[in-house]
Amino acid sequence: MRRIETLVDFKMSKDTQPLDPQLKALSEATQAVTSELSLEQVLQRIAQAARTLINAKFAALGVHDGHGHLSRFVTAGLDPNTHQKIGPLPTGLGLLGHFLHKGESLIVNDMAHHPAAAGFPKNHPIMNSLLGVPIFSKGELLGALYLTDKQDSSEFTETDRQLIEMLALHAAIALENAHLYEKTQRLAVLEERDRFARDLHDGIIQAIYGVGLLLDNAKALISPDNETAREQIDVSLKSMAVIINDLRNYIFDLRPQAIKSKGLYARLEGLIKELKVNTLLPIQVEIDPDINSYVSDLQASHIFHIAHEALSNAARHARPKRIALSLTRQDDILTLRVEDDGKGFELPNTVAHGHHGLANMYKRASIMNANLHIESTSQRGTSLTLTLTGVSKQPEPA
Ligand SMILES: Nc1ncnc2c1ncn2[C@@H]1O[C@H](COP(=O)(O)OP(=O)(O)O)[C@@H](O)[C@H]1O
Ligand SMILES: [Mg+2]
Repeated sequence: MRRIETLVDFKMSKDTQPLDPQLKALSEATQAVTSELSLEQVLQRIAQAARTLINAKFAALGVHDGHGHLSRFVTAGLDPNTHQKIGPLPTGLGLLGHFLHKGESLIVNDMAHHPAAAGFPKNHPIMNSLLGVPIFSKGELLGALYLTDKQDSSEFTETDRQLIEMLALHAAIALENAHLYEKTQRLAVLEERDRFARDLHDGIIQAIYGVGLLLDNAKALISPDNETAREQIDVSLKSMAVIINDLRNYIFDLRPQAIKSKGLYARLEGLIKELKVNTLLPIQVEIDPDINSYVSDLQASHIFHIAHEALSNAARHARPKRIALSLTRQDDILTLRVEDDGKGFELPNTVAHGHHGLANMYKRASIMNANLHIESTSQRGTSLTLTLTGVSKQPEPA
């Protein structure tokens, strides 16, 4: 490989072009980065600028997925037809990925005969010389610029490398911006959901509650002998209570994004706090403080939903004086118990239309290979026991 060692060499060397078109290409790339274009378009322009800058036949910009592969590959100089015929994008194996591990630029004169070459795919134009430049930002490898087939010479020069490394800085800014933008978007979606749930809770539930109070007042105004009207108001009040409850459950499902990221312990705590506020019932709670380290995410989710359903059943159907929840572990056995001292019920043999709570609990238990047992006695109350055997300390998240 021929090397031109310094920039002085570059200024003296006669094979370089006048600076004007090069500066133009650089300035175009800079402008693209600060423009309103999509990331794809910005990358496209940078690739195109790179190609013009050092007079290469083809240019490509590969974006790293952070796991040693390329997640995007934008090309310049290939006609769309050929591009399509080549098929799937390179994954970053072979020569394209080779130099990235070292994190240094690479100049190769004969791509096909390089020891790391994996060969060109079918329908891929034969390329000879290659200049590869990694794109770094704050020490993190974000991707690489690839230039192939120097047009006016058989090989890329050290000057070419320096120019493309300059362009790689612009590409780094563009990629960094895109990552930041994505992150902000995701946060905005979460916040929006949270706000929506709060609005629903504060606004709509309050409104329905208000109508309930009006109905209550109306009932008091109706003459005692109008039995039918009073009964109808009672029915309306009852169904409004059900609506409020369903809405609360729905809201609870809306919010989990914020809650999901918390461990089972905090999620249950939140659930119980909410239930206390909504029912004003005394709720006795005992949760193993280490519980989070003994359940997988999936188990945590199932246990949470079973506890949620059991608690809401107790609050909605049992008319209890008190409710108790415990989630404890004894060696490798984890036990969830939800008890109420309410009116009890006959366990149904089949799932009644529109009532899936019990069936879902059994389904979740069986998915986890856990045992679910419900005991209910008329006027004495209901006790639900979920037993999960074989739990062990979970590996710390990386
Ligand atoms: N803790 C409980 N106390 C009294 N009745 C209950 C209790 N849990 C469930 N039930 C009865 O079992 C029925 C089915 O419950 P479920 O499947 O959760 O459906 P849903 O809660 O939607 O009615 C309830 O409608 C209720 O009559
Ligand atoms: Mg239910």
